[in-house]
Amino acid sequence: MVKPPHPTKINMNPTHSLTTGSADGLFTDLASVLSHYDRVRKTGKVVEYQNYSSLKQKLQSLDVRIGSQSWDSVWATVETYLDNSVKTAHPQYFNQLWAGQSEPALVGSIIEAIANTSMYTYEVAPVATIIENEMLNVFKSVFGFDSGDAQVTTGGSNSNYIALLLALHKKFPELKQSGLQGLPRCAVFVSSDAHYSMDKAAVMAGIGLDSLIKVPADERGVMNTDLLDTMIQECIASGRVPISIVGTAGTTVRGAYDNFEALADIAQQHACWLHVDGAWGGAVAFSSEARKFLNGFERADSMTWDAHKMLGVPLMCGVLFTRDSGCFDRVCNLGDTSYIFHDTEERQDLGPYSLQCGRRVDMLKMWLEYVFYGEQGFRERIDNFMHLSNVAEQRINAEPTLELQAERWINNICFRTTATTSSDLNGFNKSVRERLHRQGSSFVNIAYLGDELTIRLIITNKDVTESDIHEFFDIWVAAAAEVDQELMQCA
Ligand SMILES: Cc1ncc(COP(=O)(O)O)c(C=O)c1O
Repeated sequence: MVKPPHPTKINMNPTHSLTTGSADGLFTDLASVLSHYDRVRKTGKVVEYQNYSSLKQKLQSLDVRIGSQSWDSVWATVETYLDNSVKTAHPQYFNQLWAGQSEPALVGSIIEAIANTSMYTYEVAPVATIIENEMLNVFKSVFGFDSGDAQVTTGGSNSNYIALLLALHKKFPELKQSGLQGLPRCAVFVSSDAHYSMDKAAVMAGIGLDSLIKVPADERGVMNTDLLDTMIQECIASGRVPISIVGTAGTTVRGAYDNFEALADIAQQHACWLHVDGAWGGAVAFSSEARKFLNGFERADSMTWDAHKMLGVPLMCGVLFTRDSGCFDRVCNLGDTSYIFHDTEERQDLGPYSLQCGRRVDMLKMWLEYVFYGEQGFRERIDNFMHLSNVAEQRINAEPTLELQAERWINNICFRTTATTSSDLNGFNKSVRERLHRQGSSFVNIAYLGDELTIRLIITNKDVTESDIHEFFDIWVAAAAEVDQELMQCA
């Protein structure tokens, strides 16, 4: 049940001076804010729900265009920010494909901010360049991309976009110079359950939404490979060129895995690129049990993986792998860069291979995770998510009012309440979810499986226990009964 809220309560001694730039006392105060927030963020309400206009009013106590020149105002604003933010590390926060964060990586994020450098050149980021190279080598080996390249991206959407660019440039090397004009119409094949970032990628790459062909997924959430083959042949017959097939390792809603062996065979047959979007479910590469879902992905030309999702690294920490080396150099290394990349004796700059210029040091977070946990720690963490998800599935099966709506693959659990007087199951389940959100008792998301609304529970906080899972279902079942009761009274 909901415990009383703990406001952040910041009482600072603002000895640090803005005008002299002196930081005396600043970091002591900051440390006390962080440690206080760390204590409150896992208890009380998950969020103090407010609508946009009332929350906006709270933030408008200051005229930010003038500035207060006062640390009291800064800390008061920090207090308002933290008190009104969603506590994403709370054990009842199951809403997104990430939750809270792992502590060594949190330290990395804070240290990254104070050292504030950019990943483009070795000269401004010497230790960070070595860390990024070393970390990417470790991941290449975990994910089986030893012979290729890997780069850090701003996340899964960005990785999927770059992968599409790589596929296009492989098919049409002249693209770099002359652009899309004069090229035949393209076709990129994704599952109907693929992430929406593929739609954005098609638009940003200039091939347009008509070139993104959505292949129906079956009832398990797996792309239908017979249909894929037929649809590719139809496209070829109509004069289009198949560029890429995009499989998903852990779909956003069901957590399903495509059949990568079959996709690789089809891609090979039609000479097109195979990309695997493992932004969410690629992390099972660390697992002893769930790694089997990735079978065949080692035949992919590229793969997306986000360490900021299942591995609990603070947002963002994305990686894109390629089977062959040199792809990033071919597509991203452009323009007059003489002002920034200098021909030194031993040039180690990573900037030329990225789509960005300035770039954060995201791998420090991951490096510190490794320093603390090592791979054994990640294996245990992910296996524990699978165990807890099994506990959730058993609980749903044991509850007469609940139904599991989709086969569970990993730590995505799709369920709903079926026992209600309402004839509108979608509306009913949505209301229960809204009630939990507004009470601040639990935070879980909705999604759609076809026309059916589903409650998508994601277990990806390393501190969540079996009793938190049971508490979630206790809260859900009680709220569903209340909503049903109210409906009956209104009828
Ligand atoms: C399968 C999949 N791919 C890509 C993404 C996009 O990742 P990001 O939020 O890092 O851009 C998501 C996000 O949920 C996802 O589930």
